[in-house]
Amino acid sequence: MVTLLPQLLTIITLLISFPPIQSILHTSPPTIELPISAHSPPLTLCVSDFGATGDGISYDTVAIQSAIDACPSTIPCHVTFPRGTYLTATIRLKSHVILNIEEDAILLGGAEIEDYPKDSSRWYVVLAENASDVGITGGGVIDGQGPRLVGFLSCKNVNVWNVRLREPAYWCLHIVSCENTDIYNVSIYGDFNTPNNDGIDIEDSNNTVITRCKIDTGDDAICPKTYTGPLYNLTVTDCWIRTKSSAIKLGSASWFDFKSLVFDNISIVDSHRGLALQIRDGGNVSDITFSNMNISTRYYDPSWWGRAEPIYVTTCPRYSNSLEGSISNLRFINITANSENGVFLSGSKHGLLHNLKFINMNLSYKRWTNYSGGLVDYRPGCQGLVNHSAAGIIMEHMKGLEVENVNMRWYDDDQTERWNNPLDFRPSTVTNISLFNFHSGLYKQ
Ligand SMILES: *[C@@H]1O[C@H](CO)[C@@H](O)[C@H](O)[C@H]1NC(C)=O
Ligand SMILES: *[C@@H]1O[C@H](CO)[C@@H](O)[C@H](O)[C@H]1NC(C)=O
Ligand SMILES: *[C@@H]1O[C@H](CO)[C@@H](O)[C@H](O)[C@H]1NC(C)=O
Ligand SMILES: *[C@@H]1O[C@H](CO)[C@@H](O)[C@H](O)[C@H]1NC(C)=O
Ligand SMILES: *[C@@H]1O[C@H](CO)[C@@H](O)[C@H](O)[C@H]1NC(C)=O
Ligand SMILES: *[C@@H]1O[C@H](CO)[C@@H](O)[C@H](O)[C@H]1NC(C)=O
Ligand SMILES: *[C@@H]1O[C@H](CO)[C@@H](O)[C@H](O)[C@H]1NC(C)=O
Ligand SMILES: *[C@@H]1O[C@H](CO)[C@@H](O)[C@H](O)[C@H]1NC(C)=O
Ligand SMILES: *[C@@H]1O[C@H](CO)[C@@H](O)[C@H](O)[C@H]1NC(C)=O
Ligand SMILES: *[C@@H]1O[C@H](CO)[C@@H](O)[C@H](O)[C@H]1NC(C)=O
Ligand SMILES: *[C@@H]1O[C@H](CO)[C@@H](O)[C@H](O)[C@H]1NC(C)=O
Ligand SMILES: *[C@@H]1O[C@H](CO)[C@@H](O)[C@H](O)[C@H]1NC(C)=O
Repeated sequence: MVTLLPQLLTIITLLISFPPIQSILHTSPPTIELPISAHSPPLTLCVSDFGATGDGISYDTVAIQSAIDACPSTIPCHVTFPRGTYLTATIRLKSHVILNIEEDAILLGGAEIEDYPKDSSRWYVVLAENASDVGITGGGVIDGQGPRLVGFLSCKNVNVWNVRLREPAYWCLHIVSCENTDIYNVSIYGDFNTPNNDGIDIEDSNNTVITRCKIDTGDDAICPKTYTGPLYNLTVTDCWIRTKSSAIKLGSASWFDFKSLVFDNISIVDSHRGLALQIRDGGNVSDITFSNMNISTRYYDPSWWGRAEPIYVTTCPRYSNSLEGSISNLRFINITANSENGVFLSGSKHGLLHNLKFINMNLSYKRWTNYSGGLVDYRPGCQGLVNHSAAGIIMEHMKGLEVENVNMRWYDDDQTERWNNPLDFRPSTVTNISLFNFHSGLYKQ
């Protein structure tokens, strides 16, 4: 008897929840032949009506999944979570479903390994696969004491807005092989001291827009990668980032091309690396703009990725038999940086850097932590860490750099290392550099 009760409840709630669908259909004027989805308000189903307790102790997985599954597959459907903490194993979204996690609601990922699918590529608290018109909103929180938080795999028309994601044990918001993704006003808090605690990872996806996000985390904050196909048209604007790794990083997975990416109006605070390209596997990168940014980068413990570089552009073969991708047409414009280390621009023999522009930049260099410098970082793979004194811009294997309206200011603290060398390059591998209105000077505190 007891075991029948949940099923009975589901049947009852299904009966309760179907009348709204019928009433929508009945009240639609039959003469207007427009798609229902464009003109009717979304159907709303509440997880409580499907038996979710929201007590944070008992699992609500079955109730939440029943609510999602009760959504008809043709019209927009909001699955709503009222105030409460909903403990859950992996839940799966389907087409036309938006999770609406209200301001006082928390969707809490289970902490047990068996809460997640056997296939580790599907370890998410919320997973959407092969779906279209799916999303998450509502102002509430998704908290993953478990593995990756939210994954959209091979989806179309994804919307994630007004939601707070926190404490993933691993990548937080993962967009894989998707088309048309909009991420707006999402805040991400990950543990500052947990590695692999990335913010938003975008893989093999086209037409992605990220706006007004706030990301505070221990590993790369916004991280486009290519594993199985290219990545085109990513626009990131109006964001605030703090990370113990790279704020924006292309790679290191870089088997296919990255093209037409724009990053604008972004504040990067106290990060271990600012704008980074870490190309290692043969994909080619082109047409990338970084504009209107304030960047502050500092050293952290050397066991973390990063060497306090405000800008780090590297392409080299990961292993001796890896392919070398080229990087071309990068623009850095209207950028102010306060950093403990200089800019590093490094191509490789068969993976040149072509045509980089630095326009309207104020680069200030000053040491304020006690960690030692004096290393350039080719990791992962390649030559690893190499001893090399700091410089304003280090360059190698590059053809074409235009520097215009760029000021370098060096603040002279107690310097045991060589300091205030503006440009460091190997002439045999660097050609066609033009400097216009470029200044470098030492400032006393
Ligand atoms: C998604 O589509 C891929 C490729 O068609 C297929 O292998 C996979 O099983 C599908 N997954 C789901 C959950 O439908
Ligand atoms: C952003 O989302 C939060 C909830 O996470 C909400 O309180 C706030 O009003 C949203 N802001 C905007 C501008 O939509
Ligand atoms: C992205 O666009 C490229 C170029 O048109 C295409 O090859 C690739 O399959 C697209 N990716 C997705 C996920 O649709
Ligand atoms: C990238 O955006 C441009 C301009 O909006 C568009 O023409 C092109 O089709 C997009 N590329 C892909 C692969 O969707
Ligand atoms: C830049 O982004 C911030 C949010 O981080 C926003 O408040 C501001 O309006 C944006 N500035 C412009 C010029 O869009
Ligand atoms: C950068 O700092 C300047 C001066 O404090 C400020 O006016 C500007 O809005 C900031 N821009 C960003 C993207 O944070
Ligand atoms: C990168 O460009 C090189 C040179 O044009 C080309 O041989 C290689 O196939 C490209 N890589 C990819 C992943 O398309
Ligand atoms: C750089 O600093 C100068 C003043 O020293 C200022 O006029 C200029 O606007 C600044 N440029 C940027 C990109 O912040
Ligand atoms: C750079 O800043 C100047 C002055 O604030 C502004 O006029 C110009 O539009 C900016 N350029 C870009 C690409 O945002
Ligand atoms: C650097 O070391 C000095 C002397 O050991 C110490 O007083 C200071 O607090 C340290 N500074 C930082 C930023 O850790
Ligand atoms: C850098 O040089 C120091 C001594 O000058 C040496 O101990 C260290 O192993 C070198 N590091 C690397 C990565 O070569
Ligand atoms: C050098 O770079 C400029 C642009 O910065 C370009 O117009 C010119 O063709 C390049 N010259 C060579 C020889 O590559």
